Amino acid sequence: MSGFAACDLRDAGHVVVFTGAGVSAESGIPTFRDALTGLWARYDPAALATAEAFERDPALVWGWYEWRRAKVLSAAPNAAHQAIAELAQRVPKLTVVTQNVDDLHERAGSQDVLHLHGSLHASRCFDCAQPHELPLLVPEHPEAGQRIEPPLCRHCHGMVRPGVVWFGESLPELAWERALEAARSCDLLLSVGTSGLVQPAAEIPRIALRHGAQVVHINLQPEPVNGIREYTLAGRAAQVLPTLLAQVSGQ
Ligand code: OAD
Repeated sequence: MSGFAACDLRDAGHVVVFTGAGVSAESGIPTFRDALTGLWARYDPAALATAEAFERDPALVWGWYEWRRAKVLSAAPNAAHQAIAELAQRVPKLTVVTQNVDDLHERAGSQDVLHLHGSLHASRCFDCAQPHELPLLVPEHPEAGQRIEPPLCRHCHGMVRPGVVWFGESLPELAWERALEAARSCDLLLSVGTSGLVQPAAEIPRIALRHGAQVVHINLQPEPVNGIREYTLAGRAAQVLPTLLAQVSGQ
């Protein structure tokens, strides 16, 4: 099966790599929906990942995101992020579209990554939306659940919020438009480490499939596939992607 995908990868003019939390799991960043370790199995998204939650209890929400930002800052890209960055050197065009709010693709060397759900590193004012730069060190290395007061905006003294997309919010327009365009025009899409449950991001592989691309799902479990151009590779992203890369490179 992976021999098949490798041969198609070699011939693809434009590859899209669409990633979810599973691609960063092996860097020690928790996923959302894995049964015991997933964030949404342990914490209530309505209390932490909505604008209403932030208005109700900003210190709880800000503390939770600072805990996650501290985890990301102390994590390193894994072999999956590295293989994706390397693959960009082996095909004519490669677009990374991610649902992840970490920067591990960029730190592995991927360029121009489209972040559909924003970034933990791009905070902005809740009121006036001016960007707010955060220190690259989280001072106290917070515990999960630790309350931290959000900083105040330098422009309007409003509260600074995390730069992520919360439930009920729209995706960043430009990233979404560019992701749609890439999905419609690619020859092959690798969907890596995502449960495919969160809309509208989950449409990206389906759009690629409808527009004639081959779609390969890489996940711990085999994904159910319907189309003749849809395939599944079961395994850890940090193992499957380097294997594919080696096959593309003829090693
Ligand atoms: P999920 O937690 O829903 O799914 C992670 C997927 O990765 C699961 O299907 C796992 O089986 C798979 N997985 C785990 N470890 C893996 C590994 N080492 N190799 C390959 N696959 C692995 O995460 P997402 O699909 O990214 O939204 O979740 C989508 C969105 O839901 C997130 O972006 C977040 C969340 O609410 C926002 O924050 C807006």
